[in-house]
Amino acid sequence: MSYGKISILCAVFILAVTGTTITNSCTHQSYVLPANMRTGDPNICFERDVLPIFQSNCAKSGCHTAESHKGGYILDTYQDVVKKGIVPGNPAASKIWESISMKIFDVEVMPVGAPALSASELSVIREWIATGAIDSGACYTNLCDTNAFTYSGTIANIMQLHCTGCHNSASAAGGSLADYNDVMNAAVNGRMIGDISHLAGYNAMPSGGTILEECEITQIKKWVAAGAPDN
Ligand code: HEC
Repeated sequence: MSYGKISILCAVFILAVTGTTITNSCTHQSYVLPANMRTGDPNICFERDVLPIFQSNCAKSGCHTAESHKGGYILDTYQDVVKKGIVPGNPAASKIWESISMKIFDVEVMPVGAPALSASELSVIREWIATGAIDSGACYTNLCDTNAFTYSGTIANIMQLHCTGCHNSASAAGGSLADYNDVMNAAVNGRMIGDISHLAGYNAMPSGGTILEECEITQIKKWVAAGAPDN
């Protein structure tokens, strides 16, 4: 073998070994919104609008709970959600956004085996990331009205935000809460009120998630007391 050939082989070998370093030096850092510009969107409250979507659709046992942490993602608290896959100010570079909004090669859109997130849920998450992915804390009281409790105006929205990620037509455990008859049945004939009130002897719901705001529990109780109408 000539020296020429050996040196070519060496060069190929070195390239192969250092290949990762070379490619890494080509990837550029994605834009991260500076901390002092993470103002949030005044209409989005993480605890109220974003966290329940993750808790209901992603933090299911076997998926993204602290125990199962598929892919290293735990999606049940603010600290865990922002730990991996969220780039403040940059949804496009955020793995979590990517995974819920588009099919990447043969990887299914999340949540796998369950209905996709709705357009409004996606836009809330996108806007939350774009404005800095901040923890805006609890901000229920100013917005929740205990005197508003129609099925279509209030109850269905509570179910959609906190419950249907697990209780949908595709998932059998506990039954669906995706439409009026299901919800009415669980509330009037079932154990729903005890479950959401976290009473002893009941199954605390949302399972593994944060208890509903007092005002939301009151709204559901008032709706049931009014005969659980389809209004
Ligand atoms: C993370 C998944 C998950 C979420 C979110 C969730 N549930 Fe459940 N639910 C379950 C599972 C699993 C069961 C089956 C019983 C069990 O394992 O506790 C169940 C059971 C139930 C039952 C029947 C159990 C019984 O006591 O008879 C009701 C009613 C119920 N859930 C209501 C709700 C309501 C209302 C919400 C939203 C406020 C909710 N769930 C959110 C997973 C979930």
